[in-house]
Amino acid sequence: MKIVSQIKDPIREEMELFESKFRDAMSSKVALLNRITHYIVNRKGKQMRPMFVFLSAKLLNDGVVNDRTYRGASVIELIHTATLVHDDVVDESNKRRGFFSINALWKNKIAVLVGDYLLSKGLLLSIDNSDFDLLRIISVAVREMSEGELLQIEKARRLDITEAVYYDIIRQKTATLIAACCALGASSVKPDSADIEVFRKFGELCGMAFQIKDDLFDYGGEKIGKPTGIDIKEQKMTLPLIHVLNTCSKSEKKWLINSIKNHNKDKKRVKEVIAFVKEKGGLSYAVEKMLAYKNEALQLLSAYPDSTYKSSLELMVNYVVDRKK
Ligand code: IPE
Ligand code: IPE
Ligand code: MG
Ligand code: MG
Repeated sequence: MKIVSQIKDPIREEMELFESKFRDAMSSKVALLNRITHYIVNRKGKQMRPMFVFLSAKLLNDGVVNDRTYRGASVIELIHTATLVHDDVVDESNKRRGFFSINALWKNKIAVLVGDYLLSKGLLLSIDNSDFDLLRIISVAVREMSEGELLQIEKARRLDITEAVYYDIIRQKTATLIAACCALGASSVKPDSADIEVFRKFGELCGMAFQIKDDLFDYGGEKIGKPTGIDIKEQKMTLPLIHVLNTCSKSEKKWLINSIKNHNKDKKRVKEVIAFVKEKGGLSYAVEKMLAYKNEALQLLSAYPDSTYKSSLELMVNYVVDRKK
């Protein structure tokens, strides 16, 4: 059985019902918006965040979820979708999930407004049902993601960026939402329990590994449904490059910095930088760190009794680092 279908096995019913609820949660009376949200739901992503929500809830509650769990999963996926729509505007990226991005098809103005619409629909879904504990978890994540994106703009183009700042950026922009998935899954079935914090931390560790993997994709030539090789072009320093900048010789560093500063749009030079980063062990260093986060996440899970949900979550953690897109 394929790994994703194996992970989904114990949450198959929930994921099916989730999909129809998610579709409904997006609908609008405005025809243009409906066209765009249709376009979005028909090009769905991996849906890893709702999977984290359901698996966390089921692990903690003997396989039983409730309406709050479903709403939480929808809110998270709405917010995730909103941030991707905005991210492609910010990054001037024309591809998402193997198709044209919203900004590529409808331009930036519309993409910004659609992102805001999806965000508000998510928050309202919690408010209308008085899921205030879940709303707090989600709102914290939304704030942190905005801060993370701005921190990245402020710091990630600096050639002296430290590894610690890189981790701060990815914790805020990516890990915090996956942390919210697991905390929310826990909170939906076990409000006020100590498990919420354990699951938040578990999700955060998964999220760190998840973004390091995403940054590694940028150095590979594989087709992943969105552009690769753009971080250096955008002068965005990620872990492989940060490590090499910190460990190479003075003259190599000079060449690297000059390449990134002055030749970042030169395709041939960018390829040389990528080759250099590989040769100097930048990728293997990032893989090592990614696996350390993965193992820390698995360590947290090991305290819970064995179940099909726990096995699926373990597979999910492995999928975060082994996935092909
Ligand atoms: C992409 O997330 C955004 C990042 C945080 C790197 P996913 O890779 O989960 O996106 P989809 O939903 O599967 O397209
Ligand atoms: C992911 O950021 C989007 C958010 C976390 C808001 P990136 O810009 O690094 O991700 P991709 O590669 O475009 O999905
Ligand atoms: Mg971005
Ligand atoms: Mg992007």
